[in-house]
Amino acid sequence: MVMSEAQRERVKATGIQGPSPAEPRFPFPVPSGWFAVAQSTDLVAGGTRNVHYFGRDLVVWREQSTGTPHVVDAYCAHLGAHLGVGSGSPDSHAPGPGTVHDACLQCPFHGWRYDGSGAVVEIPYAPSVRIPAKARVRGYPTREANGLILCWYHALDQPPAWELPDVDEFDDEAWEGPVYTERYIDTALQELVENDQDTVHFVFVHGSDAVPEQTTRWDGRLRHTTALRPDGSTFTRETHQLGFSLMRTPNLMFLGASSPLDEAHTHQRWVFAYRKSIGAEAGRSMIDAFACSGIYQDIPIWEHKSYREHPLLVKGDGPIMEFRRWAAQFYPSADGS
Ligand code: FES
Ligand SMILES: [Fe+2]
Repeated sequence: MVMSEAQRERVKATGIQGPSPAEPRFPFPVPSGWFAVAQSTDLVAGGTRNVHYFGRDLVVWREQSTGTPHVVDAYCAHLGAHLGVGSGSPDSHAPGPGTVHDACLQCPFHGWRYDGSGAVVEIPYAPSVRIPAKARVRGYPTREANGLILCWYHALDQPPAWELPDVDEFDDEAWEGPVYTERYIDTALQELVENDQDTVHFVFVHGSDAVPEQTTRWDGRLRHTTALRPDGSTFTRETHQLGFSLMRTPNLMFLGASSPLDEAHTHQRWVFAYRKSIGAEAGRSMIDAFACSGIYQDIPIWEHKSYREHPLLVKGDGPIMEFRRWAAQFYPSADGS
């Protein structure tokens, strides 16, 4: 087997080669669902932002007058310019931003105008030309909620099969929030979520005194878990799909919105709120316990493990295979659903 230059450097530095690049690290594709591609505050009306999710380069943009957000594939149907990269500055040599013209994203190269669905609706320099049917890029159904812009991804481009809830605490005067945190993790989204069901690791990774008692209710697309915390309070998790969960303790809640960069890399956003009555200091330290400490105990394990399709499980392990059967519903099946 030939070792790449990057692998050779890694072996020298860490003694770990990692999975062979010739074989995919995970046997599943990018799952279906609603995935955050930007924070609402990332772009103003008429603004564009270039992002990479689902193994694709995308442009997130807002219409000029309404601010309605849209997400489209990045490369123009005409001659392939990136729709979110404008011409460069002669002074700084930096690339320019994309251009929004009214309710259209305008290609920076020859000005073709795309609507929010990804269809070309105007070719300004050739007004009498019939716009070809193929003059479109893939558009993704887009929603804005909980301070995030999310789009629907399905590998076979099927329309949205469900909607996601609004988080009540973010609009509740008694709660402080939303407080955003984020991180990039070199593993598949499913592996992050499987961790919820792996109760034994709390002892060895997070230093719990005992394996936490956790109950799980599998409810079609939804999954509810309830665990007892060391202080006697409960921790509930309401999961709506791979990559969208609402976690609640009596004084702290957070929305976990994790988006696949591709099959093996994940962008994890956690959006917190805490009960104002506990005070800012206590709220901040509860957030830090999750977002600055606990998760960083997991990350090296996830980033270096290899996926076992047939794990060797014993009595005492969490319901890992039940989890995988539940997770399977989020991948496109052979019949296209
Ligand atoms: S490449 Fe986009 S309009 Fe020509
Ligand atoms: Fe963990």
